[in-house]
Amino acid sequence: MLTHSDLREMQTRSLKMQGWIRQQTFSPENVKTLRRFSSWEVSELILGLNQSTFRGKMAADPTLPAGKVEPDGRQRWFTLDEVNTLRRKLRPRGKSLMPTRPGGRAFRTAIANFKGGAGKSTVAQHFAHAAALDGYRVLCVDFDPQATLSHSMGLTDVSEERTVWGIMARDLIRETEAQNAAPRGAASGTALPRRSIPGSITDLGLQDLRIADFIQPTNWPTIDLIPSCANAAFVEFASAQYRHLNPEWSFFAAVSRFLDQLPDDQWDLIFFDCPPAIGYQSMNAVFAADMLYIPSGPGYWEYDSTTSFIGQLSEALEDLAHGFEDTLSAGKVTLPKAFHDVRFLLTRYEPGNDLHRAMQEAFGKVFGDKLAEHPIEMTRAVEQSGRFLSSIYEMDYRDMTRETWRRARASFDRAYAEFKATMLPHWQAVAAGQGTLPADKVAAKEEAEA
Ligand SMILES: Nc1ncnc2c1ncn2[C@@H]1O[C@H](COP(=O)(O)OP(=O)(O)OP(=O)(O)O)[C@@H](O)[C@H]1O
Ligand SMILES: [Mg+2]
Repeated sequence: MLTHSDLREMQTRSLKMQGWIRQQTFSPENVKTLRRFSSWEVSELILGLNQSTFRGKMAADPTLPAGKVEPDGRQRWFTLDEVNTLRRKLRPRGKSLMPTRPGGRAFRTAIANFKGGAGKSTVAQHFAHAAALDGYRVLCVDFDPQATLSHSMGLTDVSEERTVWGIMARDLIRETEAQNAAPRGAASGTALPRRSIPGSITDLGLQDLRIADFIQPTNWPTIDLIPSCANAAFVEFASAQYRHLNPEWSFFAAVSRFLDQLPDDQWDLIFFDCPPAIGYQSMNAVFAADMLYIPSGPGYWEYDSTTSFIGQLSEALEDLAHGFEDTLSAGKVTLPKAFHDVRFLLTRYEPGNDLHRAMQEAFGKVFGDKLAEHPIEMTRAVEQSGRFLSSIYEMDYRDMTRETWRRARASFDRAYAEFKATMLPHWQAVAAGQGTLPADKVAAKEEAEA
């Protein structure tokens, strides 16, 4: 017979192996670092210039970052900071290389599906990296206590107070205080009952944490992360208890309220990696999202599961569409939740596989233009890079056949380019609809400036 102690013992052994794998991947100090990018990558794949134009520009201006020549090679290799300086300074034929950025706040995309292993974390990680290489400033939120995204971004030592759970518990305390202080429910005119939150929650001091306390830098200078950790797995149980403590608490809008307080101009794109479940964390992700991206493998069972996912999500959103009018009237979340777009993205797709092609056709018939045209292909390079917790963008192409690396990268590049083309008009709409700053945001801004 096996009990919890046997499971604990197995975990201890497994953690040792995890540590060993990280040592193979990360720097000797066990910190994940970002490699340099070659002048071939920087010119052709990142800035979209041909190599001779790039070399010409570099030769003409000695103030540009020169990169570093590796002892065994002829190419120059640049850090991402240097790449970003080049992006700001170079103006081929008078054209800026900076990516399009409508005004207003960052655009938020949730990568969600309750099917496990659908490719959510892989898509979140690769889109974040592709966006950073495209010149955007990225914030990721890991809603999954499996913490795949956090680990892949080099954050392995995370305390649970600094995760989405901390944001939710902080929101519960603040919202309850605000409700207790308000004499009447604004919409219906009926008084909200006074609720009290026990010391076991308020004593954690979460209500005093600042917004910035939840956001951590990663191994990419232009990607930040609100991480998760295994200890945050109890969020689902805790949230049920929190709802009991204050049934008027709009639990699903906690992260949305948090993100509404971020300064508009610090990040461009926000990606949410969701857990394989519909629960308190994924509902927070969905409610905070402007757009849903739903990855799915190309098999029948994945199709089946994706179908159930949208059914269950629809039901959950419908359930939450009523009953919170009193507590939400002052906020920016409106009910029912409406997305700017919902897209389906096939992952682990093999173009030569008849079944995959047939499933792509079936997805296309059902979802029409909501199915992304460019699936993410199944590639050994990603399988391999996943094993080392790295994206294809992080892997050095000299560590594998260049053709394998290029094919894999091209597949993610196409999927990202399609995501960007889909997203930009919606981002413009968000910016246009944002108008003037709401009072809570003005207050947060003043607090930050003081
Ligand atoms: N395009 C791809 N080619 C090869 N392998 C892939 C590809 N995409 C994902 N994988 C592999 O499939 C596995 C599952 O992917 P991933 O972790 O992204 O799924 P997930 O939906 O986030 O899973 P979970 O539901 O557990 O969070 C990983 O081992 C990953 O490396
Ligand atoms: Mg995942």
